[in-house]
Amino acid sequence: MSELIDLVRGCTFDDFLFTPQYSVVERRDPASIDLSCRLSEHLHLKRPIVSANMDTITRAEMAIAIAEEGGIGIIDRGFRSGDIEPQVREVERVKRRQHGIIADPYTIRPDAPLTEAVEVMRRTGVGTLVVVDEVRRILGLLTTRDLRFADLSATAASRMTPRDRLVVKEGAIDASAAEDVMRAHKIKKLPLVDHDGRLIGLVTAKDLMKQRQLPFATRDTHGRLRVGAAIGAKGDYLERAAELVRAGADVIVVDIAHAHSAVMSRAIDAFRERFDGVELIAGNVATPDGVRFLVERGVNGIKVGIGPGGGCTTRLNTNFGVPQVEALVACRAAAGPRVPLIADGGIKRDGAIVQALLFGGDTVMLGGVLAGTLETPGDTVQKPVVIPESHKTVKVAFKVFRGMASLQAIVDRLDVEDAESADVEALGAEGTEISVPARGSVRPIVRDMLKHLCSAISYGGASSLAELQDMFRRDPRRYTIRLSGPARRESFDR
Ligand code: XMP
Repeated sequence: MSELIDLVRGCTFDDFLFTPQYSVVERRDPASIDLSCRLSEHLHLKRPIVSANMDTITRAEMAIAIAEEGGIGIIDRGFRSGDIEPQVREVERVKRRQHGIIADPYTIRPDAPLTEAVEVMRRTGVGTLVVVDEVRRILGLLTTRDLRFADLSATAASRMTPRDRLVVKEGAIDASAAEDVMRAHKIKKLPLVDHDGRLIGLVTAKDLMKQRQLPFATRDTHGRLRVGAAIGAKGDYLERAAELVRAGADVIVVDIAHAHSAVMSRAIDAFRERFDGVELIAGNVATPDGVRFLVERGVNGIKVGIGPGGGCTTRLNTNFGVPQVEALVACRAAAGPRVPLIADGGIKRDGAIVQALLFGGDTVMLGGVLAGTLETPGDTVQKPVVIPESHKTVKVAFKVFRGMASLQAIVDRLDVEDAESADVEALGAEGTEISVPARGSVRPIVRDMLKHLCSAISYGGASSLAELQDMFRRDPRRYTIRLSGPARRESFDR
């Protein structure tokens, strides 16, 4: 790869094409081409897609969709300092969406009013509550169906399906045995109890079916979807990390604009002292020195990218940064084999994904290309748009996409009511906010990206992502064509 550094100096994605090679695959299909990769030292994904920890991109719905498609979402830290619970709730929602066996199902007391059940179901997104007494003995099940048309001032006990009408299994059970019991009794829910009748778990038919339907989903050892969560390097970050880990976050991402810094060094030391064994990704850096600095401090993964992001104005405002392809090549050479790299930012078209993965990324982190989709947080607003041909004005739905260092995002994180206006002006924003057209679900967008990645693997003469990366890194000049201005226009101007 070292010879590549000279070729890519000062360059980014639109500066290159790859030379087509003799193709060896029969089908360019994500179901048959292996796209597996490493997110971090100990975490593997079947698809190399990570949704960015931005407050207009990744909260629970996006993280669920991306994990079900085989990648992973990182829940942003764009919540007010000291206000940890909202981020924790997002992590909990992802962890509770799919299970093999739910080890800690949500419960409710029999004398609780149904309004409380409605509130718990709304807040957590679950549709079944187990009704238990004060020593967790199961009394019944309460589902959304039981609440339909019910008088909400009534108690949980009055609407639940009582214990004597339930099939309940004593002791632990594995997923396939649970499936047998549920098939035999034609039931959708199977509570698990210990020999005293105390609740120890819950299996649902929906979970078991999802496990089958989504073979590429990113799951932990309990069959739950995996999710990451971002923290900062100051303020409440350790307390936040503790709560996120407790809620089941599979990886913590310490994310600051400039990770090659004294602030990051202190943060990693403090993190490691308190959370030995928790998977830790840190970023962002864009230089070999920055990568070595983080590798030496024992992180398990590194985010690479200073300023390529769509919502980012760092380069405009400070003139610092490294073109993303140069950054990836230089950082890959410095990282060594232990620590995977996330290529973070600047991917605006699907073809840039394979570039990011060949030039040095093990995965790609995506922000702007996922913006406006159904799963992004934030409201949809209708804005008038003039159609150029007819001069007619139509209403179009938009959603906001903004850099995490944009003034608007910073102000939302602060308790602005207490802030002096002078403080807000002195913040030094390094991001921008734009409206993007609202789109449908992110899922077909990700599936298209993966199909295009498979086609790229076919053009590259390999039969898997890992093989293409290996072939490229052994002989990068065989692939890499540096484009002239006209060639760039011929390739990408459409
Ligand atoms: P894309 O190009 O996919 O990039 O939208 C997403 C990445 O952009 C970074 N990011 C920022 N960088 N100021 C920055 O300098 C910002 O306000 C900002 N917000 C996001 C971040 O790395 C993200 O993953």
